[in-house]
Amino acid sequence: MSNINIKKLTESYSEGKSLPREFYTSPTIYIDEIKNIYFNQWLTVDHVSRIPNPGDYFLFDVEKESIIIIRGRDDVIRAFYNVCTHRGSRVCLEEEGNKKLLVCPYHAWSFDAEGNLKAARFMPDDFDPKEWGLRKCNLAIQNGLIFLNLTSGEPDSFEDFIAPLIPYLNLHEPENSKIAFRKKYSTSANWKTTVENFQECYHCAPSHQSYSAVHEKDFVKIYGAGKGSAPDEETTAYEEKIKPWTEELDKRGIINQCYLETETESGLTRYADRVPIGNGNESETENGKFASTLMGKFKKFGPDGGVTQISFNPFANTYFNNDFGVLFIFKPIDTFNTEVELIWLVDKEVNEDQYDIERMIWMWDVTTQEDTQIIENNYKGILSKSYKPGRLSETERAVSYFYNWYLNSVKRNLNGSHIS
Ligand code: FES
Ligand SMILES: [Fe+2]
Repeated sequence: MSNINIKKLTESYSEGKSLPREFYTSPTIYIDEIKNIYFNQWLTVDHVSRIPNPGDYFLFDVEKESIIIIRGRDDVIRAFYNVCTHRGSRVCLEEEGNKKLLVCPYHAWSFDAEGNLKAARFMPDDFDPKEWGLRKCNLAIQNGLIFLNLTSGEPDSFEDFIAPLIPYLNLHEPENSKIAFRKKYSTSANWKTTVENFQECYHCAPSHQSYSAVHEKDFVKIYGAGKGSAPDEETTAYEEKIKPWTEELDKRGIINQCYLETETESGLTRYADRVPIGNGNESETENGKFASTLMGKFKKFGPDGGVTQISFNPFANTYFNNDFGVLFIFKPIDTFNTEVELIWLVDKEVNEDQYDIERMIWMWDVTTQEDTQIIENNYKGILSKSYKPGRLSETERAVSYFYNWYLNSVKRNLNGSHIS
């Protein structure tokens, strides 16, 4: 394989077009992205209700890394690299479970749920088990969502990262919710092809009948991929149209402002908005009716017909209706594959007979299956030698924001170096 001059490749990008082919297809670029971009993010990985009891754990496996996320006997959730401190074996082999002791399958070194080494046979007298606990991975919990940061250095401040998004999370209180359903969608495409599809709703009308039936046409065109994804005049006209709704929310003390970050020099690309679902629907379900009980502050406020989108970074976002939430996690698998996982959340007090899983998952399940198909078709074309960067439409501006964020991250981390 010929050397890739990443500086030249970055310079060959032209604003308003898709990325040059090698960004989607080069394993060399992929390895650098994982190390220099993905591992430096605060990654949303799951919800605390997945591990409710002491000793409950699950693994978050990505690239060459495996992380054990485990609840200790003190009820504190911690994260450790799944690497034995003896000679490096994986300690946990099953994807999830409950363990009083994490026993390495190789020579049986045993660690407690807080990561301390408790037993190691035939070690010399000067061996101090206190020095050989499992190595910690950076972890943070916000409103019941678990975040990891796999950087090798000092992680960016989690508090600064999450601060602008907390008011939106507080509205829906995912900390008072539980997982109702989860599903993985394996996608045969590079992570950027996968993620950029979620930055535009140009494809929604032709590709997503269900999604387009739930929402109003102008919403789909102008706001389907968030504020700023369509021309300014149309955005202003749409915001004018929904003004009676936003004014009503102001009166009721319900947040509805948009948080938009297009200044990508910071390396952050957070986003949040609240809009009416439209068409008289109270929830994003097939019949427009609630599929579960109200959750979060809506127990007090009552319904408002709105939906909240919160995007943490290109690797995770959430949508909250008044009655359920859905967390999207985009995990790169290798250059040519990505895993998309959806986790649906309902109020933690609700009984199983009080919510309708089928109606709750319907829109995003159907839509994500459709997305998987169109992303894979897209990627097959990108793999062709005839692919060239194509022109973006007026309603794909958020795709350019994504490219700018990505290329700034590449430039900042690789500093124009030649990689091969
Ligand atoms: S590698 Fe784990 S006990 Fe030896
Ligand atoms: Fe889509």
